[in-house]
Amino acid sequence: MIYEHAIRPMLFNLPPEAAHSGTLRIAGALARVGLIGNTIERILKLEDERLAISSAGLKFPNPIGLGAGMDKNAIALDLLGQLGFGSLEVGSISSNPSGGNRSTPRLQRVPQEQSLLVNYGVPNDGIKVIAERLRRYHACAPLGVSLVETNTGVQNTTSAVIEELQKAALVAAPLADYLTINLQCPNSISGPFAKASNLRALLRALADIGDMPPTFLKTAATTDERLIDELTGTACDFPFVRGIALSVIIRRPFATTGKHHSSTTGSVTGGPLRTLALESLRAWYRRIDRQRLMLIGAGGVSTGAQAYEFIQNGASLIQLVTALVYRGPAVARRIKSELLAAIERDGVANIQEAIGCVMV
Ligand SMILES: Cc1cc2nc3c(=O)[nH]c(=O)nc-3n(C[C@H](O)[C@H](O)[C@H](O)COP(=O)(O)O)c2cc1C
Repeated sequence: MIYEHAIRPMLFNLPPEAAHSGTLRIAGALARVGLIGNTIERILKLEDERLAISSAGLKFPNPIGLGAGMDKNAIALDLLGQLGFGSLEVGSISSNPSGGNRSTPRLQRVPQEQSLLVNYGVPNDGIKVIAERLRRYHACAPLGVSLVETNTGVQNTTSAVIEELQKAALVAAPLADYLTINLQCPNSISGPFAKASNLRALLRALADIGDMPPTFLKTAATTDERLIDELTGTACDFPFVRGIALSVIIRRPFATTGKHHSSTTGSVTGGPLRTLALESLRAWYRRIDRQRLMLIGAGGVSTGAQAYEFIQNGASLIQLVTALVYRGPAVARRIKSELLAAIERDGVANIQEAIGCVMV
């Protein structure tokens, strides 16, 4: 309430990118004052064993994760970790530092649709610098590190992209509970990994690292069965790959709803993405090997009812970013409490039991 009536109007008076980076800097500073972080954690605390998810060899205290893109450089992880998310994903991080896209604005709000238009182009400080911050972080939920090709604005050869991702994974692997490989490369529209042979070469290079944590492949939301079969077929040959994370559609005008987005490039997040995200989730859940791979759903989840629908349609975990901007720091707590009410209403023993329950 305080967020929606007092803090959000203040933040929304600032240009979106300045509000995003400023909030993270303040959150980073506040976390150093232990008392503040602990008070926030106490106010937002809602732990319940019925919300826990065990999957991919990891135990998540609840299925509501913070997605990549909120804290690209791991500068505010300690405070973000106190907001009650069941997992936190930093990044996307590249092997080399990158300033991201040059054209501005790189972030726009569309409050009418509870949506953001993102055209950052994965700016980040690079894996070496960020690794130092990760070493100092005390995790209270599984920590994911999202890796991506460095944005140089110039299309790279596939072998160079693979070499880069391997280098980044080598540094990140010992510091992360899980890795996410962002297959949407910033320097090309479709990315080299839409082709199965390229994806296989990438996964072989990552397997060569040896001690890989559970790894998820993040790919654009699609319902294309051929793409789904190719990707999951390849992924299943590599035991360290434990799941698929479904993402936004990159650099394409958004064609389903979103009249406010129709003529703009960049990724649309939040509300307008939800229908497509859910359709894609259902298409993947129908076709994946559920013993081998889990699904992470994302796209416009901001309430317990929406999270429950994603879970019932096959998501083991949910990631959100946009809802944190619109609903504020209590969003995970609110969703968790609504999820508990939903399973009590339906007589379901725990949230894990609800995964894919409408899909059988
Ligand atoms: C500002 C912003 C930056 C993002 N940056 C990344 C990124 O660097 N890497 C990535 O894999 N996803 C990124 N995403 C996508 C989110 O992780 C998430 O998949 C997507 O926004 C859909 O969820 P939402 O509708 O809850 O935001 C970003 C999203 C936003 C809003």
